Amino acid sequence: MRHLAVPAAVMVGALALTLTGCGGSDDAKAELSVSSSYMPQPVSDMAAGFLTIANKGGAADDLTSVTSDAAGSVTIHRTVGQSMEEVKSLDVPARGQLVFKSGGNHLMFENLKRQPKQGQKVTVELHFAKAGPIKAEIPVKSATYNPATGH
Ligand code: CU
Repeated sequence: MRHLAVPAAVMVGALALTLTGCGGSDDAKAELSVSSSYMPQPVSDMAAGFLTIANKGGAADDLTSVTSDAAGSVTIHRTVGQSMEEVKSLDVPARGQLVFKSGGNHLMFENLKRQPKQGQKVTVELHFAKAGPIKAEIPVKSATYNPATGH
């Protein structure tokens, strides 16, 4: 008898099917949580920020703005081809996630009040169309940090 390892992609697919199968509640709402956040140590008064907003709930929501005491402004950007553009909001799908990552969606901090250093944290508040605001502490990593390798 042979035992074959189940590829991770197959398991993720099965999980997604299971989750999709249990919807249908009338009072569905978004259940949001933030993970995998980081800011590459900035080299000017601008910085990028990355994070994942997971939604375990049965209703979609929208990230509508981000604020931080550390910066004069925080804007939401997405990457289209080789260029980026500011957007008013981004969708957080029901039972899905909104991912900010290098080369894709990102937060743009401008007019930083001080340049945060590796090991410090930058506090942000995420605002949504329906759900209440979520505070998150974004750890500052090295300027060349790669979340895939962890350094
Ligand atoms: Cu940008």
